[in-house]
Amino acid sequence: MRIAVGADHGGYPLNERVIEELRTAGHEITDFGTHDGSISDDYSDYAREVGQAIQRNAAGLGILICGSGVGASVAANKLKGVRAALCGDTYSAHQSREHDDCNILCLGARVTGVELAVEIVRVFVAARFTGEERHRRRLKKVLEIERL
Ligand code: RB5
Repeated sequence: MRIAVGADHGGYPLNERVIEELRTAGHEITDFGTHDGSISDDYSDYAREVGQAIQRNAAGLGILICGSGVGASVAANKLKGVRAALCGDTYSAHQSREHDDCNILCLGARVTGVELAVEIVRVFVAARFTGEERHRRRLKKVLEIERL
């Protein structure tokens, strides 16, 4: 799968670990950085890059990492067609795909331990939208909200 990954200074170096994990699993990664956690930068820039990669179908899924994961998820969810899930547990990670058809996973590198974060990534990437009628109905309403 093609996966876009971006992280601000607060998300570094978890992004490097996540990319290594995904490449080892055979995924094609677009790496938007950062590659230097000592430079203060803006989570919103990475959210835009990863979100737009989803919008133009250059990636099927995205991973965004900042300190808490909150800023990245708020910013990414401003983009039409983006459904970004901030997850700190594996249940939310698979349900966000299965029920909510989320296309971006957000992680908080200052909140979630590295091994749990990597497990969350694995679970998110492996899960699929079930397509059940009740989930489609709810998603249709989400798209209506997006147009407000
Ligand atoms: C950066 O210090 C931090 O504010 C950012 O990574 C993120 O946690 C915002 O939600």
